Amino acid sequence: MRELLLFLHVLLATFWVGGMIFLSLVVVPYLKDKPQIRDEAFQEVGRRFSFYGTFLSLALLFITGMGITHLIQGGFRPSILFKLALFFVVVAVSLLHDLWAGKKAVESETHRLWARRLGIANLVLSVLLVLLGVLIRLGY
Ligand code: HEM
Repeated sequence: MRELLLFLHVLLATFWVGGMIFLSLVVVPYLKDKPQIRDEAFQEVGRRFSFYGTFLSLALLFITGMGITHLIQGGFRPSILFKLALFFVVVAVSLLHDLWAGKKAVESETHRLWARRLGIANLVLSVLLVLLGVLIRLGY
């Protein structure tokens, strides 16, 4: 059971973090000079990643994270509690990005800028969650 939970946890983490890196390095630069399709593409890609990323992957990362906390790490300690707190920040930033800034980005330049800032903040915070996962694994 713990092998399956850790496998799923790492797989979901690669989808979530890898997805955001792909968006930043591949999708955004490609759409930058294509105003005729940019807004519709951002809304469609954003809607899909919001469903599979924010709503599905983050929920499953929480469930598998709680499972491996107990089945592998024997319960909470400060490093895991810190990771959990940071995780809730990532959830809040994702919801702000998906349900507020990202949704209104077509209509207003301010929302488009906030969508960009929240997206970059979430990528940095999620990479920190990976680092914390590695440190927890190594006994911190
Ligand atoms: C966006 C959210 C998250 C990401 C990207 C993430 C990523 C990772 C990664 C990549 C590892 C594997 C590290 C390794 O094997 O060296 C890991 C381990 C771990 N994660 Fe997460 N994680 C997330 C959320 C959570 C949550 C919500 C918890 C719950 C408290 C959690 C608890 C743990 C624990 C306890 C380990 C160590 C597992 C072990 O002993 O091998 N994670 N995490």
